[in-house]
Amino acid sequence: MPQFSPSDQAVIAKVQAAFESRFAGNPQWVRACGRINIIGEHTDYNDGFVLPAAVDKYLFFAMAENGTDECRFLACDINEEHNVRLNELTPGPKLWANYLMGIIKQFVQDGKGVRGFDCAFGGNLPIGSGMSSSAALECGLAWSLNTMFDGGYSREQLAQLAQRSSHTFVGIPCGIMDQFASLMGKENQLILLDCRSLDYAYIPFDTGNYRVVLLNSKVHHELASSAYSTRVKECREAAAIAGVKSLRELNPEQLEVFRHHMSPTVYNRASYVVAENNRVMAACAALRNGDIMELGRLMFETHDGLRYLYEVSCPEIDLLVDFAKNFEGVIGARVMGGGFGGCTINLVHKDVLDNYIAQASAHYLQHTGIRTEAYFTASVNGTELLAKK
Ligand code: GLA
Repeated sequence: MPQFSPSDQAVIAKVQAAFESRFAGNPQWVRACGRINIIGEHTDYNDGFVLPAAVDKYLFFAMAENGTDECRFLACDINEEHNVRLNELTPGPKLWANYLMGIIKQFVQDGKGVRGFDCAFGGNLPIGSGMSSSAALECGLAWSLNTMFDGGYSREQLAQLAQRSSHTFVGIPCGIMDQFASLMGKENQLILLDCRSLDYAYIPFDTGNYRVVLLNSKVHHELASSAYSTRVKECREAAAIAGVKSLRELNPEQLEVFRHHMSPTVYNRASYVVAENNRVMAACAALRNGDIMELGRLMFETHDGLRYLYEVSCPEIDLLVDFAKNFEGVIGARVMGGGFGGCTINLVHKDVLDNYIAQASAHYLQHTGIRTEAYFTASVNGTELLAKK
């Protein structure tokens, strides 16, 4: 039986109450995971390597058939509704609804017999924090539909379906890391994923005396999504100039050959990606050898790359990472996820953990006026069905 924290229980009670007040029937329950990523940022859409895990911050979905051709959604955390007929699935102004409708559309296009349903959902996964609440939204619904309407997809196929939906319906050219992690996570393991072949291996998530803690900057800069698309294009341009399908195929020496055919910006993006792919491999070796200091060093290096070469950090995040660098007992820190805000991921010695969080929070408050939040996450089994109706 899955474990429910007090926070999970509060969410379930809230979603259940919302479902019962608005809909009828006895719903099936699905729990969808957020994710962290240890290292390998902006490598997924370059066919490279990533090292994420599904974590115990969730969205819960209660869903029941309603005997009509309409899908009705209740987003409990923001108290919004969205209703749509199965033959009228088109993107609209509500981003959260687009993530959901896109998934249904994929099922319908694949000829799966989806019928009308009612769905209430809510969670304790912080939104816009770089922990991929959007993938949890997609994967939670995808798993719900797969079980309710016997979709027959494997978890890997659903991750690909969700990515396709982001591309074609939502209009975000994302990689596959978030959806794959949300669906394929395993307790106490990290997932080393090759985003080209989708081959993967589980690596024990053991950081010895060091703990992973996330600090939420609570900022999410507007340009995040347009900048993401620009980075995707810049990487494609670099690959085209080098005559390869993706940057995954280049090592640093090969990239150097094409340096003077690229603009300085495009070269910087490519050099970050090429180095980051190598860092993922180095990080896995460090984990296998129990060399946690090395893992931390690589994380700091990734942050420098994201800050100066890939340019997806922001002043608030840099403030947190710089503070981490100067704090005895913090051996690694970097921005996590797409960038321009969200969380930093920190590797902190257990003896200084409380002190670090208190001091980093005070420092952040003093310089930005924002109260950060700290999260400890455990890696868990991916998105799953909790109860069949
Ligand atoms: C977002 C995207 C992912 C990945 C990360 C950056 O989370 O959804 O596919 O590209 O940014 O590593």
